[in-house]
Amino acid sequence: MATLLHIDSSVFPGDASHSRSVAAVFRRTWEEQHPDGTVIYRDVAAEPVPHITAEGYRDPASTGRLVLIEELERADAVLIGAPMYNYGIPSTLKAWLDNVILLGRTSGESPSCQGKPVTVVASRGGSYEPGTPREGFEFVRNYLRAVLSGSLGLDVGFIVPELTMAPRNPAMAALIPRYEAARERALEEAVVLAKKL
Ligand SMILES: Cc1cc2nc3c(=O)[nH]c(=O)nc-3n(C[C@H](O)[C@H](O)[C@H](O)COP(=O)(O)O)c2cc1C
Repeated sequence: MATLLHIDSSVFPGDASHSRSVAAVFRRTWEEQHPDGTVIYRDVAAEPVPHITAEGYRDPASTGRLVLIEELERADAVLIGAPMYNYGIPSTLKAWLDNVILLGRTSGESPSCQGKPVTVVASRGGSYEPGTPREGFEFVRNYLRAVLSGSLGLDVGFIVPELTMAPRNPAMAALIPRYEAARERALEEAVVLAKKL
């Protein structure tokens, strides 16, 4: 039976969050493809996982860390909502990553989740695409590619609803059409990528 691990990390609920709403479309499509499938859901904003401790680092079995690792290992596919907060990922999502990246098991020479597909919905208020003034401030996609692919060996894909602040920030009014196009593209990509699984 297929299993999807779905992680949300936006502090905003439901449709107020672009990462949550795009991830919800992905998940719904995945569920249609896998009517008997199981979804493991974690909302790390609403219910944060503990930060890594020295004890948990040295002796993973002594903490709840292995539960998180087993969820990742049990999943056939992973879906992560990752809004940009101060150019990086939410600290709650970082805490989850620090728990699941375990050298000698999920990372290292033969990572236990090697090749598993992960889709990240990387929402952000501005744009950090190549050629934009803030290109060098992009620490979400670049960082997540490094840890999800480089450390965990996952097969990473990104969906990027960008410029989400445009409708609310008068200084960004001229960017509203680009925001709308990005949103439409993100929703389409969510369906296309979920159907591939
Ligand atoms: C604490 C916080 C920090 C943020 N920092 C940035 C930032 O550095 N760059 C940016 O483009 N948007 C920033 N934003 C805007 C969010 O990225 C934007 O609202 C995005 O849509 C949030 O994702 P969500 O819609 O899934 O909640 C920030 C929002 C919050 C709440």
